[in-house]
Amino acid sequence: MRILSGIQPTGRFHWGNYFGAIRQYVALQGNEQSFYFIADLHALTTVRDPKALAGFTRDAALDLLALGLEPEQATLFRQSDVPEVNELMWLLMTVTQMSLLEKCHAYKDKLAKGLAADAGLFTYPVLMAADILLYDSNLVPVGADQIQHIEVTRDIAARFNHTYGGEFLHLPEARVLDSTAKVPGIDGEKMSKSYGNTIEIFEPAKALRKKIMSIKTDSTPVEAPKNPDTCSVFTLYKLFASADQQAALAERYRAGGMGYGEAKQVLYDSAMEYFAVARERREKLAADPSTVEDILIAGAKLARQKGQEVLARVRQACGLAGNPASL
Ligand code: TRP
Repeated sequence: MRILSGIQPTGRFHWGNYFGAIRQYVALQGNEQSFYFIADLHALTTVRDPKALAGFTRDAALDLLALGLEPEQATLFRQSDVPEVNELMWLLMTVTQMSLLEKCHAYKDKLAKGLAADAGLFTYPVLMAADILLYDSNLVPVGADQIQHIEVTRDIAARFNHTYGGEFLHLPEARVLDSTAKVPGIDGEKMSKSYGNTIEIFEPAKALRKKIMSIKTDSTPVEAPKNPDTCSVFTLYKLFASADQQAALAERYRAGGMGYGEAKQVLYDSAMEYFAVARERREKLAADPSTVEDILIAGAKLARQKGQEVLARVRQACGLAGNPASL
């Protein structure tokens, strides 16, 4: 059984990324063999600043390790450190129908937003299929927006198997990440990089406080009772607080006499406490870049081992005679 997922380094990770995905990767890592990678090749479809991409990739590794991915339990690597994925992508492209890719929502949404329709954006799901199929992955934890891409992966794998008459590629299952934990951004909409309303996990304390203080609230005066259930500050607080703590703050909302500034301070304190250990770990890791690089290289080596095995099988299936891994 292998669990695999990828996360794009397109910016600093925020609370939405943590509660929507990263926290769940960490929870899953002990169960089965798990592979997590930083999808830097995919990020190239949107990040065109080389310094930014290198920085986001480094930050992604630091963040994931600081937040609890354990290299002993989960294999962490950079997508681009496994060149086999590109070759598999080509082989998969030769059995992928244009119409299959034309149906993809992520592609259609980006087109609608005015992004240039380059071949990278269009064939993005084929690279994703290669990511998954290269390691015989069984279970792919993803957000609901990625389910269609897993279906495309299954479709491509089935088509490859059908074309060459054998079970060369394993069909993976999606495991939809629990997104019941609502994470509103500072404007009250769903927290998302594309809305520009994010709170980054490792924002320096001062900047973090400033962002929290800027969360949109209504204009109920200090002395008036307030409704915690319609307040973004309270919704965010729930992510960090125990049931008792939640009840206590809800009580203060309803009693009146507490301004939103005070509630925001409570949220700030609880977020700082929640991520205190991770912050400390991140600082230590950041001061020791060679350790982080070693972890990524060791991860890539392990991933390549498995990847080369699957690629050899697939190359043979389509009649490519050689075995370049042995040259
Ligand atoms: N497309 C995914 C996202 O944006 C990231 C990703 C790339 C991925 N390759 C993957 C996720 C393979 C799971 C499996 O969230």
